[in-house]
Amino acid sequence: MIKALRGMKDIFFEDSQKFTYFIEIASSVAKRYGFNYIENPLLEETALFKRSVGESSDIVNKEMYQFIDKGGNDVCLRPEGTAGVVRSFIEKKLDRIGGNYKFFYYGMMFRYERPQKGRLREFHQFGVESFGEQSAYEDANVILMVADILKELDIKFKLKINSLGCMQCLPEFRDSLIKHLNDIESGLCEDCKRRKKQNPIRVLDCKISSCQDLIINAPKLVDKLCTDCDNDFETLKKVLKDNGIEFEIDTKLVRGLDYYNKSAFEFISNDIGAQSAIAGGGRYDKLVEYLGGKTTPAVGFAIGIERLLNLIKLPESKREGIYFGALDDNAINLIFKKAQEKRKKQKVTIEYKRKSLKAHLKGADKFNAKYCAIIGEDEFKNSTIWVKNLEESKEEILDFNKF
Ligand code: HAM
Repeated sequence: MIKALRGMKDIFFEDSQKFTYFIEIASSVAKRYGFNYIENPLLEETALFKRSVGESSDIVNKEMYQFIDKGGNDVCLRPEGTAGVVRSFIEKKLDRIGGNYKFFYYGMMFRYERPQKGRLREFHQFGVESFGEQSAYEDANVILMVADILKELDIKFKLKINSLGCMQCLPEFRDSLIKHLNDIESGLCEDCKRRKKQNPIRVLDCKISSCQDLIINAPKLVDKLCTDCDNDFETLKKVLKDNGIEFEIDTKLVRGLDYYNKSAFEFISNDIGAQSAIAGGGRYDKLVEYLGGKTTPAVGFAIGIERLLNLIKLPESKREGIYFGALDDNAINLIFKKAQEKRKKQKVTIEYKRKSLKAHLKGADKFNAKYCAIIGEDEFKNSTIWVKNLEESKEEILDFNKF
């Protein structure tokens, strides 16, 4: 038997209802915040992710679904959404036109990770990218968006924020961090030894406890921010406080992708196990320029949809629509035509098989129908139809042509 690939999941039944319910809520919040839907290809040139997500990241190092296509192009299934949005932003020359552009998207992402609970190889993100706004108010704005989405879904969260500085303050911090790492290098895991060479601040984010113990006294970037970054971080904290969002400053939060500067944030849930990050994002003011565009400040986030599925409670669905059935084969043609008519305005299902009334009522209940409409032998002869309102438990015989 052919099975789904490891780390790839089918989403159906209640989970698919939760999935579409989530998309409806998240899209409606994004629209209220002035974001427009964007759809990008799943496949991009590998170079796009190498340059944006970064050569030092685990994603580019070990997790890319990369292959050579039939035309000899080195391509890759997108591991995240930001790079593709930025690529299309530059390709459409929006960086040259200038102004603010706000996009939201959702869709599948691919990372060849070791699958475990909450960690898949194909997963879905809902994300936004806001271009052209330098103000730290916009960082607060996108954070408030995530909070609004999660609140509408009644999902509890913890928000962690940090500042990753800029090209002015980061190099000095990096030097002091490297000095610290030199002293403890022998105890670091193999990945951190590589990270130390490629992008030392990534060591701060290592999940291995022995590495965490060694870096407990490592210098903190928030203590070394330049005036501009410090002011922006202060503004962000103030705006979040003024708008009633609680947060924690996590000086070890560095994010797993290379493009960030200044604010970085993660939303955590304590109710979903080890893979507790339900959303992550931050500012990336250099990425547009780095990918060949005109310098454009930008900030965004992505929510991991699968990680939310166990946390979403669907609203109680009200009974709606009609279930049509027949106790007699002759009636199928009649109910088929009637169903087509009714379907213009409401939800309708038809049971083609001849069944007992009890079995039809069970079917109507499963469909969550408001009405169960059946034609039996007598109804067929008399041009009537038996209709039960399942909400009020009332039944009546109606003229078929008037129903
Ligand atoms: P990220 O933190 O890599 O950020 O991913 C965002 C979210 O996607 C995570 O918080 C998590 O919920 C979910 N996620 C990541 N990997 C997996 C996986 N293997 N299985 C299931 N869920 C996963 C980004 O991707 C950035 N592009 C976010 C961003 C947008 N930053 C600025 N704009």
